[in-house]
Amino acid sequence: MYIRPAATATDDGLRYLQIFDSQLGWLCSIGSSPQWGSSPRSNKEELQVEYRNKVKSSEQCWNEPWNRESVRAYIAEIEIKQVELPHRLLELAIESTNNRVRVPVAGMVLQGQSSEYVRDIIAENDDNDAFIYLSYITSDRRMAPFGKGAGARLISHAKDEALRLGFRRLCLDCWRGNDNKLIRYYEKQGFRAIGDFEVNNWQGTVLEMRL
Ligand SMILES: CC(C)(COP(=O)(O)OP(=O)(O)OC[C@H]1O[C@@H](n2cnc3c(N)ncnc32)[C@H](O)[C@@H]1OP(=O)(O)O)[C@@H](O)C(=O)NCCC(=O)NCCS
Repeated sequence: MYIRPAATATDDGLRYLQIFDSQLGWLCSIGSSPQWGSSPRSNKEELQVEYRNKVKSSEQCWNEPWNRESVRAYIAEIEIKQVELPHRLLELAIESTNNRVRVPVAGMVLQGQSSEYVRDIIAENDDNDAFIYLSYITSDRRMAPFGKGAGARLISHAKDEALRLGFRRLCLDCWRGNDNKLIRYYEKQGFRAIGDFEVNNWQGTVLEMRL
């Protein structure tokens, strides 16, 4: 498994939404339907524009100094022999050469400021205790079990990137329903909850990791 910058050439903006949709059935099956509901997002034009713009911004500022407006979008991919990939998943492959295929298994977006809906808990950023905000992390459920561990790999990459950019703090938010299962996942990765919030009856928690 390796991690590459998301790219407009491979329409990774749309891919983020498709990856997101791939999780909806599974989330419902484990009793977490309120996390993201059941309506697909990849067919919503407004979201397509938003996510394609994230990838465009990421490409444009990739080599620029990091600031509060910065966005960096990543895709985790595997490269395997084509015969090892079930036929129904071939449409997810981006490239095939010498009987090998590259297939995305997860995505992540880092940004220079917290999401607006968590600002009661954490400011846009804090010059005295600056952080990088992990605003999207999701694996492609269609690619399970190939992508098992891709989320943890991306978090580890986010830690490395944050340290390389001079940050000692990584933050994110997540849904806190269904017996805090997702929070427990992030705690296992090294995050700790710093505050709960509620927006439109959606209950979430902000977590941070000190690096
Ligand atoms: C969170 C995620 C990126 C982690 O990827 P990963 O490091 O490859 O880890 P796995 O997918 O193997 O999941 C690890 C464990 O967390 C659990 N888990 C993951 N997402 C969960 C969720 N949304 N709700 C409840 N449990 C969840 C898994 O069931 C698994 O439990 P297990 O160890 O008992 O089998 C991935 O599981 C995912 O995309 N989950 C669904 C979407 C999501 O919630 N994204 C995070 C948004 S803040």
